[in-house]
Amino acid sequence: MDLNSARHAFVTGGASGIGLGIARSMVRRGIAVTIADINEDALAQACSEDAALSAVVLDTRDRDAWQTVKREVEAARGPVDVLVNNAGIAPNGRSFTDMDPESFDRILAINLVGIVNGVFAFAGDMKARGRGHIVNTSSLAGLTASVKGVGAYAVAKFGVTALTESLRLELQPHGVGVSLLCPGYVQTNLAENTVRAGGEIARYGAAMPPSTVTPDHVGEMVAAAIERDELYVITHGDAWPPIARRMDALREACEARALSSAP
Ligand SMILES: NC(=O)c1ccc[n+]([C@@H]2O[C@H](COP(=O)([O-])OP(=O)(O)OC[C@H]3O[C@@H](n4cnc5c(N)ncnc54)[C@H](O)[C@@H]3O)[C@@H](O)[C@H]2O)c1
Repeated sequence: MDLNSARHAFVTGGASGIGLGIARSMVRRGIAVTIADINEDALAQACSEDAALSAVVLDTRDRDAWQTVKREVEAARGPVDVLVNNAGIAPNGRSFTDMDPESFDRILAINLVGIVNGVFAFAGDMKARGRGHIVNTSSLAGLTASVKGVGAYAVAKFGVTALTESLRLELQPHGVGVSLLCPGYVQTNLAENTVRAGGEIARYGAAMPPSTVTPDHVGEMVAAAIERDELYVITHGDAWPPIARRMDALREACEARALSSAP
């Protein structure tokens, strides 16, 4: 999508971190941006630092609230033509045998169902208008489940990957672009915000591991990917080896048996 023609972007988890970085990249391109978040204080702080941003309180798990918010923001700033489904929380650091089922449910509800809710709210209108772009935030953990303690998060993020690949097949013929953002470590407040959202961070302790990759780097990557209509936005060049190991194992498993379903 030519972002020169975009008028309104809607970014969930937009009050902090990667979402705010993406929101700023849209503002730099002259696009009206609505940031949506559960954290009212962070929304107010973000808007006080950048007057071009508009804020709306939204818990992405609340499907009815999505409809109300959509009506309000589109009445104020016109149809949303860039939707960024980015709100999420961190892995809980637990093995499945040591996990409170509520922790699993919370991760699935925020990191997967929240994104599905955004698609339900906005994708139909984009398809009808024949224009728009949707970005869904997954993770490297949505491409390979190769680290212990990330299992519940990986279930959700693999779901986002599948949703996004399916959605691209469905929407591309109708002029709507779809991209999957898979960040590696980015310096954000994910650990702190996960605790605030009621989640656990046994994996990280009080903070995320240090990273030189910033939300603004990711914001520019996402804007460029929308312009080029790229499916995959993988932020880290060193992400490939664990993904390659999974792909190699899958190829070997396919080639190990000579059966075919063709008559
Ligand atoms: N930072 C990383 O290293 C990293 C790596 C891979 C994937 N990600 C993903 O990137 C996305 C953004 O995370 P971030 O690192 O910028 O963290 P962040 O905590 O800085 O930003 C996430 C925002 O989402 C909001 N949020 C949480 N639950 C919400 C809900 N139910 N409804 C609305 N808003 C909600 C938080 O309040 C916060 O403002 C997440 O989906 C995360 O899983 C981050």
